[in-house]
Amino acid sequence: MRIFVAGASGAIGSRLVPQLIAHGHEVIGTYRSPGNAGRLRALGAQPVALDLLDAPATRRAVLDAGPEAIVHQASALANVRFGRSLDRAFGPTNRLRTEGTDALLAAAREAGVRRFVAQSFASYRYAREGGPVKTEDDPLDPAPPAMARQTNAAMRHLDEAVTAAGGVALRYGGFYGASNDGLVKPVRKRQFPVIGDGDGISSFIHLDDAAAATVLALEHDVAGIYNITDDEPAPMRDWLPALASALGARPPRHVPVWLAGLIAGRGAVMIAIGSRGAANAKAKRDLGWTPRYPSWRQGFPAAYAAAAPAATPAGGPPHPVAAVRRRDPAR
Ligand SMILES: NC(=O)c1ccc[n+]([C@@H]2O[C@H](COP(=O)([O-])OP(=O)(O)OC[C@H]3O[C@@H](n4cnc5c(N)ncnc54)[C@H](OP(=O)(O)O)[C@@H]3O)[C@@H](O)[C@H]2O)c1
Repeated sequence: MRIFVAGASGAIGSRLVPQLIAHGHEVIGTYRSPGNAGRLRALGAQPVALDLLDAPATRRAVLDAGPEAIVHQASALANVRFGRSLDRAFGPTNRLRTEGTDALLAAAREAGVRRFVAQSFASYRYAREGGPVKTEDDPLDPAPPAMARQTNAAMRHLDEAVTAAGGVALRYGGFYGASNDGLVKPVRKRQFPVIGDGDGISSFIHLDDAAAATVLALEHDVAGIYNITDDEPAPMRDWLPALASALGARPPRHVPVWLAGLIAGRGAVMIAIGSRGAANAKAKRDLGWTPRYPSWRQGFPAAYAAAAPAATPAGGPPHPVAAVRRRDPAR
């Protein structure tokens, strides 16, 4: 297939492009930052500069490319700083998930594109009630914390617009697998604490597994929502010490809920202690997908074994709990 990947130069896009090419596809990949054209060319894609918030430019780029399929992997999370408001940190990404998605869908319709797959997110979105692990059919949180309302609404918009158009929304778990993953630096510095009992559930996915599932979603005649997460949704009290150990760091600190609320805000605490995980059975069944790293237990050590602490570049920390670290008076 001839595939147009919006956001091909990002963390997931740059893992996806080589896998698509290995599967015999032809890739037109978009980038935003000057300098990424060469990187995309080296990965085997035909690079195209594009601001997805420019709808006429998006239309032109898609019509010029004439793709059979479109993948939307654009976000604006590199070097994001987290404060008390998730909506402020995610503002540009929210626009890419609303306006950007709409522009791509309109262009896809006009160009007669038959497959459309877009990046969504699984963690912290399902209703904070009932069992710890949720399927795609379970309700989303009807009352997200005030600081995350726009972010949740943007993801909901993407899910609904894409599936209404007959496409696939992939609700990925938290990405890991690169030496500059957002959690690496704060966990190494013991600036990312376990909050309260640490019972909020997270779902993770290795970037290579996320890319492999995306290839399968393009190649299968499916539509709808798919959780792309590993086999072991887990409470923070379990995965965070394992991550620290994989990074060669000392065990994480623990902070009581009241202190975390004071420092990071009640919204971050609600996410950290109340969140639910996401089940991957539907993706395994419909896509024939098997994650190479079925659990973060194998994935974290595999991802970080080679990364020496001193060599880790600064990365964006897309996790609200990281806000605790900057203001913790107990440190
Ligand atoms: N599920 C998750 O946990 C999740 C999801 C997304 C990101 N993240 C994490 O967030 C961190 C940053 O992500 P990232 O490296 O992918 O960077 P990013 O800044 O989120 O960029 C992603 C892609 O979108 C492109 N882009 C940005 N603004 C755009 C715009 N206005 N129009 C069109 N394209 C645009 C970028 O182009 P350029 O690179 O050329 O600027 C890049 O190709 C990484 O650690 C990543 O793992 C996690």
